Amino acid sequence: MYKARIIGTGSHVPEKVLTNKDLEAIVDTSDEWIITRTGIKERHIASNGEATSDFAYQAALNAMEMAGTSPEEIDMIIVGTITPDMITPSAACLIQSKLGAKRAAAFDIAAGCTSFLFALSVADSFIKNGNAEKILIVGAETLSKITNYEDRGTCILFGDGAGAVVLSREKGDRGILSTHLFSDGSYGDLLYMPGGGSARPASKESIEKREHYLRMDGNKVFKIAVKSLEEAALTALSHNDLTRESIDLLISHQANFRIIDAIGKRLDLPPEKIFINIDKYGNTSSASVPIAIDEANRQNRIKENNLILLDAFGAGFTWGSAVLRW
Ligand code: UT7
Repeated sequence: MYKARIIGTGSHVPEKVLTNKDLEAIVDTSDEWIITRTGIKERHIASNGEATSDFAYQAALNAMEMAGTSPEEIDMIIVGTITPDMITPSAACLIQSKLGAKRAAAFDIAAGCTSFLFALSVADSFIKNGNAEKILIVGAETLSKITNYEDRGTCILFGDGAGAVVLSREKGDRGILSTHLFSDGSYGDLLYMPGGGSARPASKESIEKREHYLRMDGNKVFKIAVKSLEEAALTALSHNDLTRESIDLLISHQANFRIIDAIGKRLDLPPEKIFINIDKYGNTSSASVPIAIDEANRQNRIKENNLILLDAFGAGFTWGSAVLRW
């Protein structure tokens, strides 16, 4: 049986750091409130002129270097993002060109903060059915460009960056064991950006009404996120006949420390089995899971044959999980 195995990981965040103290000067908030309610201390945000494909490209280079994979070997590039450089062409095509990955079919997936897991699941299918040998997946965002820095309910949360993995078709027990994806579009208006699409294209009015920024009912999203992340995690465990104790590391979407903590408690996982880096990056949407995978990997938090549970939730709503044997 062939499996899709992660053979390289990479990440990249912009240099500019926005601290909680910086935000205190912009909106009515406090370092103490942000840390207590979210666990976030700082986030990286793009400078003028920087865009999603810049971070995606750097993260991809890091992952390909670790994998020892050249651009010509890549059969497919999938970028999970809700903030591509432009509506078309896709961020995936932009980085395909920068990388010189001429053989690769390239496309984006937009599934909110779950985009990376949707991309992982699609890539897993292509590899398992023999239609691809090597796939580059990147989760990348420049959320700061669609964040309303007058809205304290959202602007304290979001950060920019990218994470990437190279998947390879290999025989053996190691690799992706399962992916599970879920969506419920009836919750669309709890986390959305009204402007900039075909329904509300850019106009003087849409700009005045601040329609080109994310809007979120954070408290409602929080409650559904906890329930959905638990459901996705338990589905993954039961599908693979795994006990909770057998999981070596939970890498969850970094939306709020309290959400991750709640999932950890519901799954009876001790803190050392839960990866947290939200303090440094905030919520980077599609980039959060692959940045966390790369950091966990480079910090040697993941050992060969470890069982890794991935879990994510985001706008749509979308949510999902994956189990990997490293
Ligand atoms: O990426 C996937 C999707 N996103 C998420 O999963 C995010 C989920 N939501 C959250 O993380 C949390 O709901 C937030 C961090 C956004 C908000 O935390 P909360 O504990 O749900 O706060 P709340 O919205 O219920 O607000 C509590 C109070 C309110 O004041 P009153 O009405 O009690 O006087 C807010 O006005 O906190 C106030 N508040 C703030 N105070 C200081 C809201 N934002 C801030 C702020 N600084 N930045």
